[in-house]
Amino acid sequence: MDTSPTSYDQVHYPSAVYRTTTPEHLAAIARLHGLDAADPRSARVLEIAGGDGLNVLAMAAAYPGAQFVSFDLAASAVAHGQSLMAAAGLANVRIETADILDAAGSMEGPFDYVIAHGLYAWVPPHVQRATLQLIDRVLAPNGIVFISYNALPGGHIRLALRDMLLFELDGVDDPEARMDRATAVLTEFGRPRDDDSASQAALRRAARLTLNKNRHTLFHDELGPVYDPKSLQTIVAEAAAHHLAYLTEAQAGGLFHGFPGEAVDDRETVRRAQRRDNDEVSFFHQSLFVRPGRHPLRVPDPAWLGTLMAGVPDSLRRTGENTFTSSAGDFELGDQMLADFLEKLIRIAPVRVPLAELAASPDHATAIFHLIDRGIIEPHSLPFPGALQPGERPIVSSLVRALIAHGVPYVVTLDHRVVQLSEEAPRRLMALMDGTRTAEEIAAEAARIGIPPELDVNLGLKQIARAGMLALSADI
Ligand SMILES: C[S@@+](CC[C@H](N)C(=O)[O-])C[C@H]1O[C@@H](n2cnc3c(N)ncnc32)[C@H](O)[C@@H]1O
Repeated sequence: MDTSPTSYDQVHYPSAVYRTTTPEHLAAIARLHGLDAADPRSARVLEIAGGDGLNVLAMAAAYPGAQFVSFDLAASAVAHGQSLMAAAGLANVRIETADILDAAGSMEGPFDYVIAHGLYAWVPPHVQRATLQLIDRVLAPNGIVFISYNALPGGHIRLALRDMLLFELDGVDDPEARMDRATAVLTEFGRPRDDDSASQAALRRAARLTLNKNRHTLFHDELGPVYDPKSLQTIVAEAAAHHLAYLTEAQAGGLFHGFPGEAVDDRETVRRAQRRDNDEVSFFHQSLFVRPGRHPLRVPDPAWLGTLMAGVPDSLRRTGENTFTSSAGDFELGDQMLADFLEKLIRIAPVRVPLAELAASPDHATAIFHLIDRGIIEPHSLPFPGALQPGERPIVSSLVRALIAHGVPYVVTLDHRVVQLSEEAPRRLMALMDGTRTAEEIAAEAARIGIPPELDVNLGLKQIARAGMLALSADI
């Protein structure tokens, strides 16, 4: 392995967690297709090129009985993840420095879930091939694979912007100067003009959206040495050469890629999914793969839906009798029972509610499949993994406490959400909740170390429970 620093050591890629990569979510999507997947509570999970490994650390904190491995070429990112792992005392995860090119020929499996997020479009073809070789080498027979990538045809728009940026950045080598120059070019180009043609307007809009990105993400995603978006059908063909068959998409908006509307064969499923992409000008995929020959259901089946539980995204709010809003926009639900069901999910989050009763009605089942596709209902294969009540000696997830101890301005919940937490007093209070003190002892300790008395410990505990940060026992 070449141990020299990479561009990701030079400019750190932001730490992140991705809800759609969790085995718990992947098992739910597999179940919608009538497929069994390993129990996420005891599964073996591999993340390829997981950066600092925060994504698997968050899973490991929620599922102490499962085993997680993440590796990456960027030694500085791995060192950061290892330090978080040690602070959190997580014994069920390994974060390592390794090269995909080596792992493809040597890594030991099997793994029930394999994740490759944000990698495939940014590495050259031989690393793409090695990624698929590695997956083929370690994937268990009933394993589920998650590969995200920038897709065509939408990627053509990003390619056009990238060409423009690389032209303007010719000769600019310093990373900070590259980020500054790229921001200036995007800002100037992104300004709408009165006489814009349709293609100019579309590119300028793409430039404005790119400006919303984190500066370091921009440095790698737009200005890195490789940017190789591919169509869904190309990726499916590449995966097929490594004994992987297309299942569906993990992200909102992708459910019907795997449900083409009638029981067609795998080839026709992919053709129809590609037609959707062409129509939607898709630019991003989170494609799932399984071993060939598993025959996933291609028509939505309420019986399988009824085996799952439902949750809702943080952003969902009821705005009227039948109206709601979420990050996906405003919408209306004519069906009173469904509207009340959503209301209940919002009220009792992070608790998840079985879908069995609603799925028994064909109309409700159809509506729920569409709500899942729009990201308004989140399908779950398991109940919320943390505690719902503080108990006698409350325990905030050890990863949350480790992130606080590392001075990070956000925390990650046990249901894989990022919560911004920059205020000092609640951070210090949560650091005390390690299972060694009762609520009264926490209040006394808080007063002793000068945490303002208006911070009510019992109220705080309710908020922490609702945010999904209370762990079940001291070992998580
Ligand atoms: C765009 S970042 C994505 C990081 C993370 N998976 C995410 O989505 O947030 C790409 C990652 O791939 C890693 N990478 C690139 N080539 C690699 C290789 N040959 N072996 C291992 N990791 C590699 C980089 O170090 C970097 O952390």
